[in-house]
Amino acid sequence: MKYDKDVLTKIHGAHPLIDKEVYTNKIMPLQDMKIINRRFMGAGMSQNYASIYWQEYYIESNRFDYVVEFGSQKGALSTYLANMAAITESYIFDTYEMFPDKDWYSRNDEGVGHWFDRLAELSPYINYHHKNVFTESTFNHIKENLEQFKTYIFCDGGDKAREFNMYAPLLKPGDKIAVHDWNMEIRQPQIQETMDKYNLVFDEPFAASASELDTWIMPFRKE
Ligand SMILES: C[S@@+](CC[C@H](N)C(=O)[O-])C[C@H]1O[C@@H](n2cnc3c(N)ncnc32)[C@H](O)[C@@H]1O
Repeated sequence: MKYDKDVLTKIHGAHPLIDKEVYTNKIMPLQDMKIINRRFMGAGMSQNYASIYWQEYYIESNRFDYVVEFGSQKGALSTYLANMAAITESYIFDTYEMFPDKDWYSRNDEGVGHWFDRLAELSPYINYHHKNVFTESTFNHIKENLEQFKTYIFCDGGDKAREFNMYAPLLKPGDKIAVHDWNMEIRQPQIQETMDKYNLVFDEPFAASASELDTWIMPFRKE
């Protein structure tokens, strides 16, 4: 068994703005599972804990072959979706991040990049791309997979409405697309035309569950 006492490091999440004693002097109420921006597996995520519960059953209920995340950022959600892909061996996972030096590779900022690289080497189901989601090469890569696989796209990059309007038209009946920060960074009027033209509807009952759990996620399905 390997045992090296020198591997310990204390720099993780050391950025001065990251609260290091969130619950030191107070209890953890169940309601706090709904707070967005929490640390998960020691990494940062711009989601609440309840959204992990939601994603677990959303993916289980839909049995996708291909899952894409736009905006990896610190990467806790990416690592969760990647591990599920590798554990279930049921879908291929792609995550996209245009600025990996900011959070993804920064241990001070709770980034997972150093470990995600290893996961991607280990598993054929796990992929990461340090690319702009709005480029033609990214679009063509996703389009090719989408034509082949039952797909779920999670829009959580820098411009969710643009991501939705660019990629939702590619969906086949049964495919799904969800956006984060619903009614905060993205609102229905921004995507209504695409919804109408391409037959995209709120994906109930998952939409109501996402709202009940305060995830700020809104899922859509192609009819
Ligand atoms: C809200 S964060 C993602 C949060 C992450 N999905 C999570 O759940 O923790 C948005 C990320 O999208 C990245 N981003 C912004 N514009 C992008 C683009 N055009 N292509 C790829 N990534 C982009 C930003 O650098 C940022 O890290």
